[in-house]
Parts: sequence; C-alpha cells; structure tokens
Amino acid sequence: MRVVIHGLTKEFMTGQGKIRALAGVNLEVREREFFGVIGPTGCGKTTLLHIIAGLEKPTKGTVEFVGEKRTEAMVSMVFQDAALMPWRTVERNVPLGPEFRKQPVPVYKRVTQFFLEMVRLLDFSGAHPAELSGGMKQKVAIARALANDPEVILMDEPFANLDAQTRLLLREELLRIWEKERKTVILVTHNIEEAVMLCDRIAVMSAAPGVVKSVISVDVRRPRSFKSMSDPDFIRCLEKIWDLLRFEVDKAMKENHPSRVENPEGQQRRKPYFDWWD
Ligand SMILES: Nc1ncnc2c1ncn2[C@@H]1O[C@H](COP(=O)(O)OP(=O)(O)O)[C@@H](O)[C@H]1O
Ligand SMILES: [Mg+2]
Repeated sequence: MRVVIHGLTKEFMTGQGKIRALAGVNLEVREREFFGVIGPTGCGKTTLLHIIAGLEKPTKGTVEFVGEKRTEAMVSMVFQDAALMPWRTVERNVPLGPEFRKQPVPVYKRVTQFFLEMVRLLDFSGAHPAELSGGMKQKVAIARALANDPEVILMDEPFANLDAQTRLLLREELLRIWEKERKTVILVTHNIEEAVMLCDRIAVMSAAPGVVKSVISVDVRRPRSFKSMSDPDFIRCLEKIWDLLRFEVDKAMKENHPSRVENPEGQQRRKPYFDWWD
C-alpha cells in the first residue's frame, strides 16, 4: 500500500499560543518501501507519524492509503519507549492486534510464537517487561507490530533510548526481519547512519515548523549489514544528508536556546517537551 501525504499542516493550541508543528508536508511512500524521515528535534516528526497513524488530526492536508488492502490492520506503531503492558508477559503483549480482532486463541498463539522466534525472544515468552533489557523490550514492540499484520509499520525513533551497541545490533535485526516481511515501513529517526543503513529513501525535514526539504534515494546495495557502513555509496549518502541537515539543526538549536525567549511572532518559544529524549 502506498501512503500519499498532501499539504499536511498541524497547529497546536496551547496556553502560550499557537504552535505550528508542520507547515505543508508532501510525501509519497511507495509500496513495500523502507522510508526514512530525518530532521532536527522539534520539527514535527512525531506529529507526522501520529497523524499518519490516525492518533492526531491534521489542521490541514490529507493522508491517503492507496492500493489494494491485503490485511485487516492498516498501521502499527512502534514507539520510542516500547509501551508494553507491564502486567502482561511477553507472549501476552505480542498478540494485541489479533486479540483485538477476536481471532481464535490457537491462531494468535501461533502468530505470537512465529514473531517471537523471528526477533529471537522465544525463550522469554513467560517474562514480564520489567525483566527485559531496553533492547529486548523494543524487540517485543517490533514483534507486536508485526503480529498485528498491518499494511504499514510506523516507527518513531525505536532505538533512540538504547546504548550504541544494542542499537547496532537491533538495526541489523530489523534489516533481517524486513528482508523477510517486506512491509511498508516509515521510520523516524534523527540518526543519519541509522536512516542510511535501513532505508530505501529518506525525507530530510526542515527545522520547525517542518516541511520536507528533499527526498534522497539511498543507493546502497542490499542485503545490508554493519559492513555496509564502509561502502563508499554509504558514506556519500551520509554526507549528502548531513549537507542538507546541518543548516536545519543549527537553526533548531538556536531557536531552542534558552537565551532566546521570544520568537518573531512575539510568542514565547517552548522547548519541545513531547520527546524528552531528543
Ligand atoms: N500535543 C501537543 N501539544 C502542543 N504542542 C505539541 C504537541 N505535540 C507536539 N507539540 C509541539 O510540536 C512541535 C513538534 O513536535 P514533535 O512532533 O514531537 O517533533 P519531533 O518529533 O520532530 O521532535 C514541538 O514544538 C512540540 O513542542
Ligand atoms: Mg519525536
């Protein structure tokens, strides 16, 4: 299924006035594409995903899913913090989608087993989230998203809270899983390496309020792995994105600096609070 986004604008009304998060985003994500969205903190990446997921309504603009619908669920979301149900075991966290659709127990047990095996967590089926490391929790969240069998998987900085090595490991796991499943994925990240490693194309967003500055094709051979990072094509792509991004990051940093209390519209500038990690 393709995702066609047209003229997406989002304004939040807050106590301090109107905040413009998105200012006319246009995008087209292709069928079975691994699509990345990269941009500085506060440029509206999370807001964009929430709108695509239907968790938030746009002020203006449209999101369309175009193509033949093959599965029951349209989207699944993987959040920055795994957002698991702490009172449920791993094997009870994974089949939320099938359970919600009231599929028979043997069916969703099979589905759960299949995807826990895929993320290599079958041995932890009976564990509770509190007993898992951050990386394992994210893998459960990925298994849950896959078990829902959606047309499109949305990922909001899924590895941002993990240490560097775990992050590398999970990138490789995600590559391996995606090669098998080939779902349409939209991945939001502010890590350029991560975007280049995983994605077919990457949208580079401007500083807030966000628009898409440019869409870059990643011409790095698949299957990819850690070794791809030394491929000259990989490095070229990294540089290209950083060239586009550095100006925006600088702008976002200055605008969020505490010394700058007012923006040109005379409203107080709020520090992004939505993502306290970035
Ligand atoms: N629910 C909300 N209410 C008010 N402002 C919000 C809300 N969600 C996000 N924002 C603001 O919108 C802007 C974009 O936020 P966000 O989409 O989280 O950016 P990103 O994910 O790129 O860091 C920020 O200025 C943020 O403070
Ligand atoms: Mg965010």
